[in-house]
Amino acid sequence: MDLALYHPEGGYYATPGRRVGRHGDFYTSVSAGPLFGKILALHLAPVLSGMDGPLRILELGAHDGSLARDVLEALATDAPQLIDRLEYAIIEPLEALALRQRERLAGLPARIVADPSQLEPRAGVLVANELIDALSCHLVESTGDGWQEIGVGLASDRFTWKPLGNADPELVRHLPARPAGYRTEVRPFLAEFLRPLRPLVSPGRLLFFDYGFERAEYLDPARAEGTLRTYCEHRSGDDPLDAPGTRDITAHVEFTSLREALESLGGEVVRFENQSRFLTAAARPWLLGLEGRTDAATAKLLRNFQTLTHPGHLGSRFHVMEARFGP
Ligand SMILES: C[S@@+](CC[C@H](N)C(=O)[O-])C[C@H]1O[C@@H](n2cnc3c(N)ncnc32)[C@H](O)[C@@H]1O
Repeated sequence: MDLALYHPEGGYYATPGRRVGRHGDFYTSVSAGPLFGKILALHLAPVLSGMDGPLRILELGAHDGSLARDVLEALATDAPQLIDRLEYAIIEPLEALALRQRERLAGLPARIVADPSQLEPRAGVLVANELIDALSCHLVESTGDGWQEIGVGLASDRFTWKPLGNADPELVRHLPARPAGYRTEVRPFLAEFLRPLRPLVSPGRLLFFDYGFERAEYLDPARAEGTLRTYCEHRSGDDPLDAPGTRDITAHVEFTSLREALESLGGEVVRFENQSRFLTAAARPWLLGLEGRTDAATAKLLRNFQTLTHPGHLGSRFHVMEARFGP
């Protein structure tokens, strides 16, 4: 999964091409229009205002920089007093994406770095939309009386699933017994992944938007095929071994593990709710200000709001988890 998505020469995200949006392979809340960034800015402004000194919004998985631009433009209008002490930092390991972000964010207070060690600590908020689902995972399958890990092998020039033997007990310690053949995914490294990021927004908040479930629902007996999927031209597929590098590969986020990772680093999870609820609450002042307006631009923004919050679109599939570190 790592190679198929991130290899510098053949990886899906490392190579040019439209990945996100109408002409790409999948929509995100960001590609649906600028409103997600505007509403996120409404949530962030009071949080940042309560922090002292130089401030940072730190984004991971920033794709082409659209969310950064949308948030910075909204803050410049709605909370201009913050802009002078704010930097919007992006950690972007892929050079091809860093180039696109630099173009999109020219003239804005944005800074793009390749790894966390290039940033000194500051107060602020980390935001990531659809990052965790794109981090590679371990695939495990029940044998009926335990779990085996499934890897990738090669047979006659084709990739195949290859059982790797009994899974490391640490890897499967949260998994209940399931019938033979039941597959699921595990990301055991979330705390290690977050550890170097956490001091970069200190005191701070970490805010993750993604699709997924709490552990009990993730491991529902009916979800026997797991959640590993591919996306290509807006069609979902279930064979990640098919044409690697040409399609997105993703597995849902198991939010209980994310919560435990955040808590193990000293964070307090202060929010876990669906995107619809979060955005509707944060957007309230903006929605009230629209009362009586019937112009075409407002109608377009309201359609964007519906896409972000309607249960049939992104509203109930997506969740937000927010953790607070420090005061
Ligand atoms: C599904 S895309 C996110 C799309 C974007 N946030 C949006 O809302 O349109 C996942 C992104 O996470 C990035 N990513 C994966 N691992 C990362 C890491 N360790 N550090 C920073 N970005 C990473 C990928 O390069 C990819 O751009």
